[in-house]
Amino acid sequence: MKALVLSGGAGTRLRPFSYSMPKQLIPVAGKPVLVHAVENLRALGITEIGIVVGGHAAEIAAALGDGSRFGVRVSYIRQDVPHGLADCVRLARDFLADDDFVMYLGDNVLPGGLAELAEGFLARRPAAHVAVKKVGDPSSFGVVQVDGEGRAVRLWEKPAHPVGDLAIMGVYFFTPAVHEAVAAIRPSARGELEITDAIQQLVSAGHEVRVHEHHGQWWDTGKLEDLLECNRALLDILPPPVAGAAAGAVDAHSELVGPVILGPGARIVRSRIVGPAVIGGGSEVVDSALGPYTVIGEECRLSGAGVEDSIVLDRARIRQVRGIRQSVIGRAALVISSPRGGHRLAVGDHTTVEVAAA
Ligand code: G1P
Repeated sequence: MKALVLSGGAGTRLRPFSYSMPKQLIPVAGKPVLVHAVENLRALGITEIGIVVGGHAAEIAAALGDGSRFGVRVSYIRQDVPHGLADCVRLARDFLADDDFVMYLGDNVLPGGLAELAEGFLARRPAAHVAVKKVGDPSSFGVVQVDGEGRAVRLWEKPAHPVGDLAIMGVYFFTPAVHEAVAAIRPSARGELEITDAIQQLVSAGHEVRVHEHHGQWWDTGKLEDLLECNRALLDILPPPVAGAAAGAVDAHSELVGPVILGPGARIVRSRIVGPAVIGGGSEVVDSALGPYTVIGEECRLSGAGVEDSIVLDRARIRQVRGIRQSVIGRAALVISSPRGGHRLAVGDHTTVEVAAA
């Protein structure tokens, strides 16, 4: 079985970060979302992974390379214009050849892995095996109606008035039968070749399409709140740090409480860090109070900082600002207290800033 990971998309809900980096490379629990995906696929025994990339192709290639670091072989498939998920399958036709494959949306995180979903597919090998999750309001997802035996009866893409509560998650297993279905569909009202329509086409043509309700955790990290929630959940199950790994990096006036992972060369001075937390390599934390649920990237400089439940990306600097929570701070960003009082802001396009009420 091969894997097709979709890592294009504009990521409009993750602006401004998605202006300068692909949303799939935003780190959760200290690792890019896309790396969590590749590791999950490797854990299934899949070593041939095709990654569909758009405008941020070079950065994704820099992060994953040829895949050997992760024990897989990565092929890059270029999608110049985002024409939909089924278009990705079409573009990947040569890579996929006549193999079964799992299609995985690169911003999905399933901390429990994919084994149960894969077993369901392998047990019967239906034309399509679709993972779904019960949600309160599935109208922003693909929606599927299921019969009493777990077979899909009808599918809709983002219906205004959904039937039922089963949202399509973004992990699909297919046999090569899907290629004929993809060739048969036309663009939707939003101008995209929808994978939901291709699966409906399989159903209409009499193929077996099975639906698997996923009971484990799942995040579509396309939104900031979900990204932070996912970060918390993954930090909760982080393997404990190796004893003694922090030796020399933490001065006598600092305290680490609970699981705190320090990257190589990280330095903690007169600070208190409450885990779970990750401090990236080469970062310096001085006179600060961090955590819980805080991930600091590499080569960051924090002094007099108070940060909890947040993700701080590489090379960011925070000086004399406390009370930062549920925040995401971009690469090489500078957050400092104003010597003149008040707020002095240089806020990027489509950025949200929340400050304490006056
Ligand atoms: C896509 C699919 C949708 C699915 C969702 C899962 O939507 O079209 O059917 O439910 O992923 O994340 P998108 O998020 O690309 O709009």
